[in-house]
Amino acid sequence: MLVRINETYDEVSKEGARLVAELVRRKPNCVLGFATGSTPLGMYKELIRMHKQEGLDFSKVTTFNLDEYVGLPPEHDQSYHYFMWENLFKRINVNQRFVYIPMGMAADVEQFCEWYEAQIVKAGGIDLQILGIGANGHIAFNEPGSSLGSRTRIKTLTGSTREANARFFTNQDQVPKYAITMGVGTIMDAKTLLLLASGEGKAAAIQATCEGPITAMWPATIVQMHRQATVIVDKPAASKLTLKY
Ligand code: F6R
Repeated sequence: MLVRINETYDEVSKEGARLVAELVRRKPNCVLGFATGSTPLGMYKELIRMHKQEGLDFSKVTTFNLDEYVGLPPEHDQSYHYFMWENLFKRINVNQRFVYIPMGMAADVEQFCEWYEAQIVKAGGIDLQILGIGANGHIAFNEPGSSLGSRTRIKTLTGSTREANARFFTNQDQVPKYAITMGVGTIMDAKTLLLLASGEGKAAAIQATCEGPITAMWPATIVQMHRQATVIVDKPAASKLTLKY
């Protein structure tokens, strides 16, 4: 695991975008795994800038998102479909036919999850998976206690995650209780992982991820087992690390 500590969130975003852009230039038909949430927003802004000013070409890229709330239609302004189109996809030249995001309205969730896994395999696997991290150590919506071998499935969100995400809804009761999420095992199958974190609120989770024992109680700790994982953090998120990086 390569741990990169930057001064600021802006630098985290730029370094992340540089790594994604390098891959897109090297392999124009690569498969990218995307995350939602506040953390990757700066990186997405930088990718949009690179597309507009430097001609970074996403036309052949296939994308898979980590997760989606169950029960929210794609046009709901808190759905992860909406988030991805608003914050990235409609501002770059991604081909809609190559965009995959879990369907929160799927009639048969189990069947959908199997289909989603099959599409990842059919696309040749994910070349680079972008990850954020929850303050409780979740990756995607794999909450503490998730099987480290899990695949795409429905998960119940913990109270702390629903509380953290309540800021995007009018009140906490409106935060969906369930999500479809890639499993920890699905994420670990990606050829490269790029985990970003910013702010002191993530410091304990980052310390556990980089230095703690591997445990399902901090799902992100499994990243230690990945052969090609890069963790990019700012100073506040790195503040509880004890080793020198
Ligand atoms: C989102 C996702 C989540 C977030 C995590 C951090 O697709 O998979 O695991 O990455 O909850 O969210 P932020 O970045 O908002 O702190």
